Amino acid sequence: MKLIKKIWVLVLLAAVPAMAIASSGVHLDKAPGNLSDKASLQRGAQLFTANCLACHGAAYMRYNRLMDIGMSEDDIKKLLPEGSKLGSTMKSAMDAESAKMAFGVAPPDLSVIARSRGTDWLYTYLRSFYVDATRPSGVNNVVFPLVAMPNVLGGMQGEQALHVEKHEGHEVQVLKLTTPGSMTAAEFDATVADLVNYLDFMAEPAKLVRYKLGYIVLGFLFLLLILTYALKKEFWKDIH
Ligand code: HEC
Repeated sequence: MKLIKKIWVLVLLAAVPAMAIASSGVHLDKAPGNLSDKASLQRGAQLFTANCLACHGAAYMRYNRLMDIGMSEDDIKKLLPEGSKLGSTMKSAMDAESAKMAFGVAPPDLSVIARSRGTDWLYTYLRSFYVDATRPSGVNNVVFPLVAMPNVLGGMQGEQALHVEKHEGHEVQVLKLTTPGSMTAAEFDATVADLVNYLDFMAEPAKLVRYKLGYIVLGFLFLLLILTYALKKEFWKDIH
């Protein structure tokens, strides 16, 4: 009985940091990513090269790795900035110095951002910009307060305003669309989902290979199970 109590205390203690993390910060929406959806990854790659490389780079990502998500050389060539080759890394159009002058902070490299921030954070962040006239860029962000990044996807999403509502004594931050963009809310969510799916792939291109390897290993173990079972039957044949 005493031992069980001790184990309970340990389990509860182990849960404390997790609870602390869960209660601090804002609610994150679940990113509906699917790394085996190549069409989504390709749309994400297009969105990324068209909208993000103006300021951010992805120094660990080479254009020709886009073949891993089913793009042909010709597809990739359409995304290449002038002067880049298929084997070039994804460089930012802006050098770090000018970016720092323009924004006050250099836009970080996004190669492995999905690993450091997590996909849920990215999915929520990119949809949580709101108009704030006190900011130099004219926008602020619920997930990243006082962020220096402008709302680059604002044309698609439209403009949002922040409302603080009271729910059962708690203050809750709610974003409301004030000016519609070129997309509906559902279309915009799907677009950001593709983009985040791509960021996830870029952070760990080998994940796809590993998933495949997982199935091969499971298949092998299953074969082994059948063989061992047959062997067991053979060994015990005369005893039963
Ligand atoms: C006009 C320049 C610009 C463009 C275009 C841009 N960003 Fe940014 N981004 C920034 C700057 C500047 C920061 C740094 C913000 C800060 O630290 O306050 C930033 C920060 C971020 C961060 C937070 C990084 C971190 O963890 O600190 C993410 C994620 C991000 N950008 C993603 C994107 C994505 C995805 C796109 C393409 C849709 C994009 N950005 C396009 C300028 C830009």
